[in-house]
Amino acid sequence: MSSNQLDKKSEAWSALFSEPMSELVQRYTASVFFDKRLAAADIQGSLAHADMLAAQGIISGDDLAAIQRGMAQISAEIESGAFDWQLALEDVHLNIEARLTQLVGDAGKRLHTGRSRNDQVATDIRLWLRGEIDLITELLRELQGALVDVAEKNVDVILPGFTHLQVAQPVSFAHHLLAYVEMFARDESRMNDVRRRVNQLPLGSAALAGTTYPLDRERVAKTLGMEGVCQNSLDAVSDRDFAIEFAAAASLVMVHISRLSEELILWMSQNFGFIKIADRFTTGSSIMPQKKNPDVPELARGKTGRVVGSLVGLITLMKGQPLAYNKDNQEDKEPLFDTVDTLRDTLRIFVEMIGGQVNPQTGAKEGGITVNAQAMEAAAQKGYATATDLADYLVKKGLPFRDAHETVAHAVKAAQSHSCDLSELPLKVLQEFHPAIEKDVFDCLSLRGSLNARHTLGGTAPAQVKAQMARHRARLGGT
Ligand code: ARG
Repeated sequence: MSSNQLDKKSEAWSALFSEPMSELVQRYTASVFFDKRLAAADIQGSLAHADMLAAQGIISGDDLAAIQRGMAQISAEIESGAFDWQLALEDVHLNIEARLTQLVGDAGKRLHTGRSRNDQVATDIRLWLRGEIDLITELLRELQGALVDVAEKNVDVILPGFTHLQVAQPVSFAHHLLAYVEMFARDESRMNDVRRRVNQLPLGSAALAGTTYPLDRERVAKTLGMEGVCQNSLDAVSDRDFAIEFAAAASLVMVHISRLSEELILWMSQNFGFIKIADRFTTGSSIMPQKKNPDVPELARGKTGRVVGSLVGLITLMKGQPLAYNKDNQEDKEPLFDTVDTLRDTLRIFVEMIGGQVNPQTGAKEGGITVNAQAMEAAAQKGYATATDLADYLVKKGLPFRDAHETVAHAVKAAQSHSCDLSELPLKVLQEFHPAIEKDVFDCLSLRGSLNARHTLGGTAPAQVKAQMARHRARLGGT
């Protein structure tokens, strides 16, 4: 396309067309108002392409210098907000190319040699997404660090562990938090994995079949810091698996955030009273003066639906597309941008809401979640959380586990009818359930005894929890 045509998209596309697009169709097909976000990546990709064209003798050194000069000016214009984005020029690629040609003339028109918008846009998204993945991975590490910080202060704090949201067994609060560290660690590793497949170069595939010019694709990949070159031109221009993979990994991050949010919301309700989150993450009610609502975790839980929705949108976008590039693919951008924005903001907020922020005066972190250890422990005292420990005690005295289970069921029933805990039943009463029960039973009926006894690898015994924290610290370094 000549610069003349680029300047006059309000007219017909080329000599081949008998009429221009209607204004509605122009708006319908344009992407510039969202894909201008790819501008920096687009310029980076163009400069790498131009550098290779010159090295291969396809354009002259003077042309390359002119392109570099023009692109520097365009970058400055975009940064300062002076760049005149035009709907009539459809997308970020044509807008930048038209401006380049305005600035440097024929050298600008030579930039598109040996490439197409199809391999160009695929390259741009990959470059942009790679940078965003790096930010997200860093935030995932910060969130893990914040959780480990809180865990370190709460190894000996006991809360009821639930299954079916019924009191099950006592667990260390640190152990509970480290379960989320495991989830976010897997997310981090998934993001690293996705990054490897994002970081491959489509450029040089041209429209779909490759090109007649002697391109050096490896050189472009190297300039752009990419790990490899896409090996099939048809696949390279049409593939959006990398975006879907990212959206899937992002959805899992949000599912983990949503599960954590659900717990924070429960824990800060009056009926639990386990934690408080700082006021700046809550709102009041317009009618009930006593209320402090956990808006941030609730909204994060809600935004999970939006990110999963983007994944569904992206994966559906690809279904039924024949090779190679189709305009459908322009619909990949908004869900991808929205996913990145939602994920980045959510992670940033959670890092601060959980771990607090550094007080510049003291250098210490302040304003993270506040733990009410007494309320947690009081809740663990209810619901016969040490019943399994009594069964295990009887097994160690020689009973088969199933018999021990039944014996303890009777003991729990008796304790329930006296409205007391198992540990509050007198030894004599306990012995009525089984004569093997002796004074040492009370060690295993205490919350701490129960905790200490779960000493298997990955268990909730404080020594195990400390070992896990040390492992995470070593892995996370100074974060
Ligand atoms: N704006 C387009 C997109 O986002 C760029 C590629 C257009 N290619 C084409 N052959 N119309 O996919």
